[in-house]
Amino acid sequence: METRPIPHPPRRIPLLGDILGMDRDAPSQGTLRQHRRLGPIYQRVIVGTTLTFVTGAELVEEINDEKRFRKHVGRPLAKLRTLVSDGLFTAFHHEPSWSKAHNILMPGFTRDAMRGYHQTMLETTRELITRWDEHATAEFVDVPAEMSKLTLEMIGRAGFGYSFDSFGRAHGDQEDPFVGAMLRALRHAEQTAIPIPFRGLFAGKAERQNDADIAYVASVVDEVIAERRANGSGATGDVGETRRPDLLDLMLDSADPETGERLDEVNIRNQVLTFLVAGHETSANALAFALHFLAQNPEIAARARAEVESLWPGADQPEVSFEQVAKLRYVRRVVDETMRLWPTAPGYFREAVADTTIGGDGDGGGYGFAENDWAFVLVLGLHRDPVWGPDVESFDPDRFLPENVRARPGHVYKPFGTGLRACIGRQFALHEMVLALALLVHRYDLEPEPGYELTVKEQLTLKPDGFRLRVRRRVSP
Ligand code: HEM
Repeated sequence: METRPIPHPPRRIPLLGDILGMDRDAPSQGTLRQHRRLGPIYQRVIVGTTLTFVTGAELVEEINDEKRFRKHVGRPLAKLRTLVSDGLFTAFHHEPSWSKAHNILMPGFTRDAMRGYHQTMLETTRELITRWDEHATAEFVDVPAEMSKLTLEMIGRAGFGYSFDSFGRAHGDQEDPFVGAMLRALRHAEQTAIPIPFRGLFAGKAERQNDADIAYVASVVDEVIAERRANGSGATGDVGETRRPDLLDLMLDSADPETGERLDEVNIRNQVLTFLVAGHETSANALAFALHFLAQNPEIAARARAEVESLWPGADQPEVSFEQVAKLRYVRRVVDETMRLWPTAPGYFREAVADTTIGGDGDGGGYGFAENDWAFVLVLGLHRDPVWGPDVESFDPDRFLPENVRARPGHVYKPFGTGLRACIGRQFALHEMVLALALLVHRYDLEPEPGYELTVKEQLTLKPDGFRLRVRRRVSP
């Protein structure tokens, strides 16, 4: 069948390819700029490696079709495998460990499971508030760093009964060595993911540091697992008879209902690390972006606050129950719109199951994909598709009013990915983000640093760079 060539940037250099105009520091934002020039699909060839990017809503709808495309473990994810190997996030579609772990862990992400995590999330947010009450109101706080502590504590405590003692450390103290090693290993994966000629010649020291970091984080996770094994899990744990099984209990105690198989020790370590990696920075950065938009838009912050106050009139510390989080509809719209403008996971990879074309009109003329050819769906661009209207850069939570959501096709909003391999932690993330944001906006006035202009840093995830706020307590005790 006749196919169309996929556009590429002008000025292709022999052997090196399309290296001109590459933005190594902010690849997703660079790709967004290229899409504005080249349209909804384009290709870059770098030293013989072909990278295809897609943003257009109609093309994405086809690429999301699970019968024709599936998840591709792209280069940045493949690099992460040195840290988390065949954990859920980085497993290849053909690895049997994925479905085994998926089946065992799914009960950890049901609505009932969320009910079990709720109290931990509430208490953890209150610890942050206590810390901010004591320290933060006089000075500007590093918002992404604080949100990172919050979400790491939430997944550590709710998922594995493990605390990093993030709020016990004195204000401004150094981070936990585990967190430091994990973040360095993540950065290393990110930096080595972009194909750059001759990088290997100068990489010895960085590689040795990376090996040490990975060995260290693995040893800490092994200790957490050993401790749980020693103390027994579930109802016999030291938290008492009523504790619901958490993610670690599920992995240690249950078998895949389809095959009867259990996860082995090494795979459990990979999954724990996967959840710590996949489950903390994305939510933390989304919370930070949301606080930025609330600080910049006082009328939107006032509406969010009014919603919290209407549910808990006059409360100093709202006693939020699990069910009530779903009633925070405006706060949820703030979260949804934040992740439209700045999806903290900026995109996902898909690969063709068999030879196919996309964007054709039935008589041919589409863009050709051979079996296993892949594309990166730049969600950052998809969320700015013309289907979102003329003013895509403005922050407007009402885009997520139910009638507006119904008027749009579902595939134009994909902050949590798509299909079988979409985010397993979506409900966990939404619950923690809505809950934390509601409590913070209720407690504090958000004072932006004078002259701060949003710049977005890319380190696998997107985050507001150098973003600080002064938080002033609103409700007196
Ligand atoms: C705002 C927060 C979050 C965002 C934006 C996000 C985004 C995503 C995306 C886009 C994917 C699909 C990746 C792909 O197709 O390659 C994904 C997968 C995944 N996420 Fe999340 N995520 C968030 C929070 C979480 C949380 C809180 C957890 C854990 C509690 C989590 C655990 C995972 C796991 C394990 C996968 C792999 C699922 C699989 O392939 O079976 N994520 N996430």
